[in-house]
Amino acid sequence: MIPVTKTYLPPLKEYQAYLKKIWEKGWITNHGVYVNELEEKLKSHLNIKYLRCLSNGTLALQIAIKSLELKGEIITTPFSYVATTDAILWENCTPVYVDIDPETLTIDPKKIEAAITKKTTAILATHVYGNPCDVEAIAKIAKKYKLKVIYDAAHSFGSEYKGKSVFSYGDISITSFHATKLFHTVEGGAIFTNSKQLDHKNSYLRNFGHNGPEKFFGIGTNAKMSEVNAAMGLCNLPKVETIMKAREQASKRYMKNLLSIKDINYPKIRKGTIYNYAYFPVIFNSEKELLNVIKTLYANNIFPRRYFYPSLNTLGFSKSQKMPVSESVSKRVLCLPLFSGITNKEIDLVSKLIIEALKIK
Ligand SMILES: Cc1ncc(COP(=O)(O)O)c(C=O)c1O
Repeated sequence: MIPVTKTYLPPLKEYQAYLKKIWEKGWITNHGVYVNELEEKLKSHLNIKYLRCLSNGTLALQIAIKSLELKGEIITTPFSYVATTDAILWENCTPVYVDIDPETLTIDPKKIEAAITKKTTAILATHVYGNPCDVEAIAKIAKKYKLKVIYDAAHSFGSEYKGKSVFSYGDISITSFHATKLFHTVEGGAIFTNSKQLDHKNSYLRNFGHNGPEKFFGIGTNAKMSEVNAAMGLCNLPKVETIMKAREQASKRYMKNLLSIKDINYPKIRKGTIYNYAYFPVIFNSEKELLNVIKTLYANNIFPRRYFYPSLNTLGFSKSQKMPVSESVSKRVLCLPLFSGITNKEIDLVSKLIIEALKIK
């Protein structure tokens, strides 16, 4: 069986050494030493001033919206995972979709201004598969209309744009450390900002709003990361460069194998990006081709993932809007198996089966 992804698990002994210390201390959550250590190590690894580890990426998005006190309409992308839209709706705001650029698959800044109304308070865009949005164009629009910018950078660990971590763009950016991500803490996430004031808000919003044991800054939620999750992060962080290298090599082998196939396209990585190879998405010419490929791969115990599918504007969670590019791409895009332990033999088999499936008419 070849799954779309396999969670990287550190040597059990390394994780057990952390667990032993957690047992000795008897402190397993509520801002323990390992969460603090992970936060400090991440700051230095990513060269980021302010970050807070959280229990997952979805709560990180909700906290970002709360922290910026957003109301009304939030401009967002239909080409993302459902969590992006969920967070907006969960925070009682209205998602207003803007279609994506057909090459990079990130929100198309040329279409944003037409969607701005008096009720618009922010732009929440996703760096798709780790490929950054047009952050300069978005910052310009945000400045002109006094909008806040949040980036859903759930896929972006290790991606850099113009010499900086992708996490450093926007008023607030968030990521996911879910087990499927290239750096993970089993479940987990983080929230990033360049503002000391917002960082302080993020820190109390994740902890019930506490200001000391008996006082409160305001309302909050529970989005704390536990010590056992942070320990997994501390085991995995030293391996992240090796994991990314392995994914890069696997992606390059797929590219080489599929080079001659004219029916396959790839998202264009934005110029100025150091890409993290978080996913290996391929875009077919038609949904029929994609379905033929899936059928062939499933029959051989290989499980790619339709991701992102469906286009979020079609979910019926919000006012219906037509998003032709996102709707078309989401029907034709498939993420192929990619993980640090994938073998050349497995990559070659997946590639061969795709080439065969594309011959079915
Ligand atoms: C683009 C995007 N945003 C948000 C999330 C949610 O992150 P989490 O699973 O940590 O809540 C995901 C998860 O896969 C995602 O892909």
